[in-house]
Amino acid sequence: YYVDTGMESQTQQPSVREPFLGFFRGDVHSELAGYRERRPVAPLRLPDGRTGWLLTRYDDVREALADPRLVKDGLLSPLGFRPQLPPDIYAATARNMLTVDPPDHTRLRRLLQGAFTARRIEGLTPAITAIADQLIDDLATPGPHDLIEEFALPLPITVISELLGVPAEDRGSFMESASVIVAGPSRFHELPGAMIGMIGYIRDLVATKRRQPGDDLTSALIAERDGGDRLTEDELVSTVYLLLLAGYDTTANLIGNAAWLLLDDRARWDAVRTDPGRLPQAIEEALRHESPVQLGTHRLAVEDVTYGDQVIPAGSTVLLSILAAHRDGRQYAEPGAFEPARERSPHLAFGHGIHHCLGAPLARLEARVALTTLVSRMPELRLVDGFTPRWRASALMHGLEDLLVTSS
Ligand code: HEM
Repeated sequence: YYVDTGMESQTQQPSVREPFLGFFRGDVHSELAGYRERRPVAPLRLPDGRTGWLLTRYDDVREALADPRLVKDGLLSPLGFRPQLPPDIYAATARNMLTVDPPDHTRLRRLLQGAFTARRIEGLTPAITAIADQLIDDLATPGPHDLIEEFALPLPITVISELLGVPAEDRGSFMESASVIVAGPSRFHELPGAMIGMIGYIRDLVATKRRQPGDDLTSALIAERDGGDRLTEDELVSTVYLLLLAGYDTTANLIGNAAWLLLDDRARWDAVRTDPGRLPQAIEEALRHESPVQLGTHRLAVEDVTYGDQVIPAGSTVLLSILAAHRDGRQYAEPGAFEPARERSPHLAFGHGIHHCLGAPLARLEARVALTTLVSRMPELRLVDGFTPRWRASALMHGLEDLLVTSS
C-alpha cells in the first residue's frame, strides 16, 4: 500500500510515494508530526485504490469523533479495506456497537452499559489484584523478564476472560488470534483465518453457556437474546467478539507504555513507588503521551464535509490519529514531554462522542491495579541495561514489542 506523505504536493490528488507499512515502522511520532504541521487533512491512497483522508490535529480529530456526518461502516478496516470473509463470519463480526450507528448503536450499547458503570467496575478491584499478584508471583526470579509477555498481555486477557466466562485453558489460542486481528497490514494475510477461528470459538462458547449459564457477561447477553428481541444471534456473537478484542491489546499497551515511561527515569519510578496515589494522574498522562490506539478509529463520510480548508468528498474513509492529536502543540504545552504530574488535560485516548470507550473505567482500574502491584511488589525493578523501546509494527495500535526488566 502506499501513502502520500504530503510533503511535496499540496494538490488534492494523492501521489504515491512511500510504502504504508514503512510509515508505521518508522518513528511514528515524527512521521505524524509531518502531517499535522504541513498537511493536517491529508489524502491517502488506500489499498483498494480509493482515497482516504488522515486527520492529525487535536481539534479536527475531536470534532470528527463526534461528527454525525461521519458514520461507522460495518467491518471496514482502519486502513479502509475489507478482509475477504465467508458471509456468515462477516455477519457475526460486523454487527456490534462499535461498528454501527444509532439507533442500533443506542440499543446495543444500552444492553451492556449497566455492567460497565464505575461502581460495578470498582467492585472488580479484589479480583484484578489477585490476577496481578499471581502474575508477579510467577516473576519470582530476578530475570530478565519481558513485562509485556509476562504481565501486560496476560492481565487484561485474564480479566476479560473471567468477565465473559472463558475457561482458562482456552485463553492461549485466542490470544494468538487476537494479536493477528489487531496487527493490521503486517499480518493481513492471516486475518481471515484468525477471524474465522475466533468466531467459531465464540459460537461454541455461546452454545455451552446456553446449556449451562454462569455468572458472566456472555450468559447475561444470552438471557437478553433469548428473553426478548433486543439483539440478534449475530449481534450477540459480534458483541462478545468486540469485548474480547477491544479490551485486550489496548489495555496491555497502556500497562506496557506506562510501565516503560515510569521505569525510564528513576525519579518518576521512585515518585510513584513512594506515593502510589500519584499513579492515576501518571496513567492519564501515559494515555496522552503514548496513546494505546494510534490510528484505530475511522469513519465513512456520508456527505461532503470540510475540515481545515479541505473538502472531504462523500464516500471517503476518514482516518483519525489519536496519537497525532495528543502531540498537538495547539492543545498541550510541551506535548512531547511526559509529565506524570501534568495538570489534568482532556485527552482522546478513549475516543469522544457516542462511541466513547465503554470499557474506560475497567481499563483505568486494570492499569492502576497493575502498576500499584508492580511498584509495591517489585520496588527494585529496573530496565535491563541498554534497553531501547521498539514499537510494534501495527497501524492500529501503539505498544511496545517487549519491555525487558530485571530486579537483580
Ligand atoms: C471504544 C480505546 C479498553 C470496550 C473505544 C474507542 C477507543 C477505545 C478510542 C472509540 C473508537 C471509535 O470511536 O471508533 C480504548 C483504550 C483502552 C480500551 C485506549 C485501554 C487502555 C477497553 C476495555 C473494554 C473496551 C477494557 C471492555 C472490556 C470498548 C467498547 C467500545 C470501545 C465496547 C465501543 C463503544 C461504542 O462504540 O459505543 N475504546 N479502549 N475498551 N471500547 Fe475501548
